[in-house]
Amino acid sequence: MKTTQAAFPATRLRRPRRTPAIRALVAENALTPADLIWPVFVRDGEGIEEPVPSMPGVVRRSVDKVVEAAKEAQALGIPAICLFPYTGSANRTSDCTEAWNPDNLSNRATRAIKAAVPDLAIMTDVALDPYSDTGHDGFVVDGEIINDETVEALVKQALSQAEAGVDIIGPSDMMDGRIGAIRTALESAGHRNVMLLSYAAKYASAFYGPFRDAVGASGALKGDKATYQMNPANSDEAMRCVARDLSEGADMVMVKPGMPYLDICRRVKDEFAVPTFAYQVSGEYAMIQAAAQNGWIDGDRAMMESLMGFKRAGCDGVLTYFAPLAARVLNG
Ligand code: PBG
Repeated sequence: MKTTQAAFPATRLRRPRRTPAIRALVAENALTPADLIWPVFVRDGEGIEEPVPSMPGVVRRSVDKVVEAAKEAQALGIPAICLFPYTGSANRTSDCTEAWNPDNLSNRATRAIKAAVPDLAIMTDVALDPYSDTGHDGFVVDGEIINDETVEALVKQALSQAEAGVDIIGPSDMMDGRIGAIRTALESAGHRNVMLLSYAAKYASAFYGPFRDAVGASGALKGDKATYQMNPANSDEAMRCVARDLSEGADMVMVKPGMPYLDICRRVKDEFAVPTFAYQVSGEYAMIQAAAQNGWIDGDRAMMESLMGFKRAGCDGVLTYFAPLAARVLNG
């Protein structure tokens, strides 16, 4: 018998997959608790941990319980938590003044965490939706989300968060010019070290649904956010958003949602080489949890695989509701 080929495969790519030790040796990416930012929902009261039905395993915590969560984060090696207030309807108004109240929920939680766990980084969200009666991230006039007046309010909100002691401010509002305006105001007020993690490429997404339940904005929201959040069809536009936000003074940038936008994460990392984060949003979390609860997928494995996907796509870190669960798996 005449053979033109060798009787064995020239390359055996199964060799580096043979044992756990060899697989560990050739692993290209690693996930650690230090890659995680844990988003937590804050509510009024004391001693309260109230489940969010559309996000199994996630609760709204009163400030004392948020402090406990902060201690837990530190013990698990998670470097940062991100605060999202659940605001009662009395504090949701058309002028959104609660957003820059020095004693609002977010600022009270920030001070309480800083007093108890000073080394944990605190991130907060800049956008008007927790405080607005329309559920929009900006002021609405005649059905339009008005940009420049909203930016003035966002600056006040950011300054009040910096005063309270946050380390990282995350503008999630997608108004034009907000990064530059906030950076200038922070510098002028002497907050030189407060970082800006810009929600630079934030898409108008169906995956935010459970979050809007969690912060009580679902009922309020009139219409959609397509005039300020990005069209899921676009990728070049995300590069323009990131370039613009970096030029205005962002220290770090975010892509949001995460799993459907890993291509954007990779492009951002390759083109800009700056600290790049993905937000694995509420709907992504809910999807995995719901399938796991039904016994359709292995929840822990799906969680870890999804998080590794972000590292492989070039992200330096991930905002994820899985943070404490994943850190526990990683810590053994
Ligand atoms: C609001 C904001 C949203 C999220 C974070 N900040 C929702 C929205 O834009 O409607 C979503 C987070 C999530 O879904 O987990 N500015």
